[in-house]
Amino acid sequence: MNDQIVPVITIDGPSGAGKGTIAQMLALDLKWNILDSGALYRTLAYFMSKNHIALRDFEKKLEFIKENFIVKFDPGVADEPVKVIFHDQDITNKVRNEEIAKKTSFLASDPLIRTFIKPCQREFKELPGLIADGRDMGTVIFTDAQLKVFLTASLEERAKRRQTQLKRQGSEVNMRLLLQELEERDKKDTEREHSPLRPADDSVIIDTSNLNPKEVLKEIKKYIQI
Ligand code: DC
Repeated sequence: MNDQIVPVITIDGPSGAGKGTIAQMLALDLKWNILDSGALYRTLAYFMSKNHIALRDFEKKLEFIKENFIVKFDPGVADEPVKVIFHDQDITNKVRNEEIAKKTSFLASDPLIRTFIKPCQREFKELPGLIADGRDMGTVIFTDAQLKVFLTASLEERAKRRQTQLKRQGSEVNMRLLLQELEERDKKDTEREHSPLRPADDSVIIDTSNLNPKEVLKEIKKYIQI
């Protein structure tokens, strides 16, 4: 049995705070594995929709879901989103869109879904280390992480970043709608009963509104003693 400690750095925060970019930079820099837990929830929403599985049938279809929900992440290259690989197929663009985001936000608030996803997330903890990006990585999934970071930014700045990201993927977006959607998602994520979004008591909180990714990375690296 391999009882070597696998170091984990958790990066939590709301949508658009810069978690994805920073988690990717850290994974590439340290050559560690990456878990994009938001994308894992998104992939489950995509998988359920593709297989016409309604939430009320989740338990009935559990065996099928367990057998077929096979997801990997590839940190890819800077300036491109972390790749989501489902059964060896790159489905990044299929899950990184607002339609799936909405479905995901609804699914992610369900305790059945969160219980199912918990062990799937922990499987990503492998040597030489893991960068775990999400909402409850430091508070629920990897409570013993060596470093917990909570990134935040103003709503306007986060909406601007999301707009740039979606434009790059070829989607045209209405800023007012985007602000409204982000606000709704924030509310759902922070007010939900199960694993609400909040910084872990032992996390380092960084407001990225006025920082570029390199500056955020530099700040985080001050705390890395691995
Ligand atoms: O970060 P994202 O936009 O890809 O996340 C998609 C949704 O999944 C979002 O509504 C929050 C939810 N989520 C969650 O509840 N817990 C996580 N650890 C990660 C994401």
